[in-house]
Amino acid sequence: MVSDESKALRHAFFAERAASKVRGLDEKTAQRKIASVAVIGAGTMGGGIAMNFANAGIPVTLLDARQEALDRGLAGIRKNYEGAVAKGKMKPDEATKRAALITPAMDFAAAKNADLVIEAVFEDLAVKKDVFKRLDAVMKRGAILATNTSTLDVDRIAAFTKRPGDVLGLHFFSPANIMRLLEVVRAKKTRPDVLATAMAVARKIGKTAVVSGVCDGFIGNRMINAYSQQALLMLEEGASPQQVDKAIEKFGFAMGPFRMSDLAGNDISWHIRKRHYAEHPKQRPMRIADRVCELGRFGQKTGLGWYRYEAGKRDALPDPVVDEIIAEERKALKITPRKIPDAEIIDRLLYALVNEGARILEEGIAQRASDIDVVYLTGYGFPVHRGGPMFHASRIGLKSVLRRMKEFAANPHAGPAFWKPAKLLVKLAAEGLSFDDASDKGSMKKKGGRRG
Ligand SMILES: NC(=O)c1ccc[n+]([C@@H]2O[C@H](COP(=O)([O-])OP(=O)(O)OC[C@H]3O[C@@H](n4cnc5c(N)ncnc54)[C@H](O)[C@@H]3O)[C@@H](O)[C@H]2O)c1
Repeated sequence: MVSDESKALRHAFFAERAASKVRGLDEKTAQRKIASVAVIGAGTMGGGIAMNFANAGIPVTLLDARQEALDRGLAGIRKNYEGAVAKGKMKPDEATKRAALITPAMDFAAAKNADLVIEAVFEDLAVKKDVFKRLDAVMKRGAILATNTSTLDVDRIAAFTKRPGDVLGLHFFSPANIMRLLEVVRAKKTRPDVLATAMAVARKIGKTAVVSGVCDGFIGNRMINAYSQQALLMLEEGASPQQVDKAIEKFGFAMGPFRMSDLAGNDISWHIRKRHYAEHPKQRPMRIADRVCELGRFGQKTGLGWYRYEAGKRDALPDPVVDEIIAEERKALKITPRKIPDAEIIDRLLYALVNEGARILEEGIAQRASDIDVVYLTGYGFPVHRGGPMFHASRIGLKSVLRRMKEFAANPHAGPAFWKPAKLLVKLAAEGLSFDDASDKGSMKKKGGRRG
């Protein structure tokens, strides 16, 4: 009862319950009926998203613009169900029943009667615009239009339609049929009944939903971007991908940043980095990561990434090619490598998450600190017995966290500007409070309010 692990587990339990309570909604908020769904795009995400609904007994139309993509998507779904049967996890007739609930299509008219449509096409605003204009033209009145975008502006996507109140983000995580987290992105004009319906649908398909406001990367990916930046800066300073991964895995993460990137596909973060370089011309390029990608080392799917992988195996093996790139870039930056202690690696990664999390909280993107913890516990492999990044920071004490961040800011290679503390973090630390004392928009609860 008194151990930190026990407190963290209880926090995680209550945090999940709290996440289902949404500002502006109550039990009187109307909900729309969702009896059929359409998914646009049968790629990596679309197939998994469709399976969620079939698994819950809800018929789904799976649509793609290209026949071969549709065939590949359907074959993937079939393989997945066959695998479950082979492992004895599902009866054959159950697998057949579920697969039969998924109807392939290539014409948008096939989606028109769905109560909910989820777009999962390429991450390109022009493509999304085209799809949302078409959906706006064909979907029946009252249908909910959702986007699975990871980084694009959901307000802009909503504005492509004449019914922005019916649009929101449903950000699934890969593999979408397995991962429990669903970020429900509330755009400026999303109607309360649309949001309430999305939360109920999430429950129905067994997801843990967390509401996020609109920003680049929403809650989870915006924070992981800060975390990855520190990981890359540490490579420049003297750490190896293996050392960074091992240190944070020892802390309890399911996977360190480099193994995770190899699994997700290094091309995804490269694509995002290139956009960031264009949007922020003063930002220094992360040359090591860019060079790894320029070699086509996209991770497990190409057999090479931050590590190398032998055919049919998932073991991450160190690769001298990557070590050489790192050494060359250190030389170009005139950095004499130093041995970075594991404790510093862990704190830099965690406090990068915490500081960005504090900003997300003060901007009102997350409703409460515990929602951020739920995102990390259910979507990013954060160790449950540590309760999530915000809980962990509060347990360490926000004053100590700030002190440590000041140390990092004094190191020119750690990115002094990066370590500018969030206003909310400074304010809470000064008042001896924790993240649980801050509710949305960074406002404070009265001192002495409920904690934990
Ligand atoms: N891959 C991930 O890990 C991940 C995780 C969360 C969210 N997302 C987001 O999900 C979306 C899809 O990503 P993905 O990885 O599944 O991509 P993908 O490239 O695997 O699949 C996209 C599919 O969309 C189809 N498509 C493209 N334009 C179309 C159109 N106009 N009409 C119909 N179909 C069209 C393509 O043929 C392709 O099959 C993106 O917005 C991405 O940011 C991806």
